[in-house]
Amino acid sequence: MTDTIITGIDVGSSKVATIIAKLSEDEETPRIMGFSSVPSRGVKRGTIVDINKVTETVEKSVEKAERMAGVKISSAFVTVGGPHIESLNSQGVVAVSHPEVEIGSEDIDRVVDAARAISLSSTREVIEVLPREFIVDGQGGINNPVGMSGVRLEVNTHIITASVTNLKNLERCLSDLGIDTEDFVFSSLSSVYSAVSDTERELGVAVIDLGGGKIDICVYVEGSLSYSTSIPIGARHITNDIAVGLRISLESAEKIKLMLSKIDTKELSARDEIDISKLALEEGLKKISYKTVVDGIIRPRLEEMFEEVLAKLETESMITQIPSGLVITGGGALTVGAIECAKRVIGLPARIGTPSHVTGLVDEVLFPQYTAVVGLLLYGKNFKPSQSGAGFKDFDKIFRNFSMKSSMRKMTDLVKSLIP
Ligand SMILES: Nc1ncnc2c1ncn2[C@@H]1O[C@H](COP(=O)(O)OP(=O)(O)OP(=O)(O)O)[C@@H](O)[C@H]1O
Ligand SMILES: [Mg+2]
Repeated sequence: MTDTIITGIDVGSSKVATIIAKLSEDEETPRIMGFSSVPSRGVKRGTIVDINKVTETVEKSVEKAERMAGVKISSAFVTVGGPHIESLNSQGVVAVSHPEVEIGSEDIDRVVDAARAISLSSTREVIEVLPREFIVDGQGGINNPVGMSGVRLEVNTHIITASVTNLKNLERCLSDLGIDTEDFVFSSLSSVYSAVSDTERELGVAVIDLGGGKIDICVYVEGSLSYSTSIPIGARHITNDIAVGLRISLESAEKIKLMLSKIDTKELSARDEIDISKLALEEGLKKISYKTVVDGIIRPRLEEMFEEVLAKLETESMITQIPSGLVITGGGALTVGAIECAKRVIGLPARIGTPSHVTGLVDEVLFPQYTAVVGLLLYGKNFKPSQSGAGFKDFDKIFRNFSMKSSMRKMTDLVKSLIP
């Protein structure tokens, strides 16, 4: 196999990140060759509000990454997120075509199609169909029913849908730059591929992508994706609150917020005043009170955010099904006190999710805000079989590699390879 180039683009509310990586036969992990992150313009809460500005920013980001990698890209995997994302669990049932022999790949194809056939308005599009379990003659919990005998085959799937307008706008920005969109991936699902362990997924975990403009959430229960949603508040609201509270500009507030996340809190508790003269703020502010900013401004906003996350998890009865707790990704995960606040409000273990499973130029990339874009590379790496046309005919071969413990990623690829 010759080396393949794979690209991930994350068009966020705060930044546009592009990663170009090489996949080769002798290396398991994608090798990053080019990376860039530029401030985003024209995106609000994950939704494009100014297509020209977005195209310009994506162009800048792609060109930078291309220069670094020394290659020109023609296609990319792209994240999507924001409140236009919705999810549902859907069932499909079919009669097995040849019950006298065994369940075949065509039965899987039909049953997944049956589950996928939900009535959707013309403004929405399915972006993910993930089988959660197959049921053969009433016996559930089956990952791979091919080769089993039975007459009735059912599947439970998790389906994620997105606004057609938003997908079309993103696709248009990229096609204007000569880039084909290979696939869209929900941003917190993409983060699962790069930052969540198999054990966490098997036990049950919620992945919270705390971005600049929104919080994307996906929940795994017993190894299967069971719930996806998004909340329209993000870490930018914390910056706004600091700006209003201290009567300073957004730029100054952002500088203070970033500085606070780097301070050693143990050192702080002794003295309340923090010297910020190094930031050289335009307002001339030299000192701030830790209590006022962290306890009085940042913490209440974080609490509000995690209370909203808790409400979503409780409404869907997910809270008791995720003993692995929360993996928090996105730049907002770095906010001072964010993890402690999540643990306290939601009452579950929480950790910051940073990307892994990549090599090469990783120094700039291994931060929570790049978990989703790195996840695209890992998703794309396994997506390859369907690109190379390994569809229906190669189904048995693909399925033979399935074990009961196989990752959901393989399952996604498989289903995607079956869906026209
Ligand atoms: N070190 C840090 N400390 C505190 N906050 C940070 C830090 N680094 C980044 N952030 C915050 O994270 C936010 C950006 O996160 P991220 O890059 O994940 O957002 P995005 O993907 O562009 O947006 P979205 O996913 O909402 O569309 C900004 O509000 C920024 O202030
Ligand atoms: Mg993001």
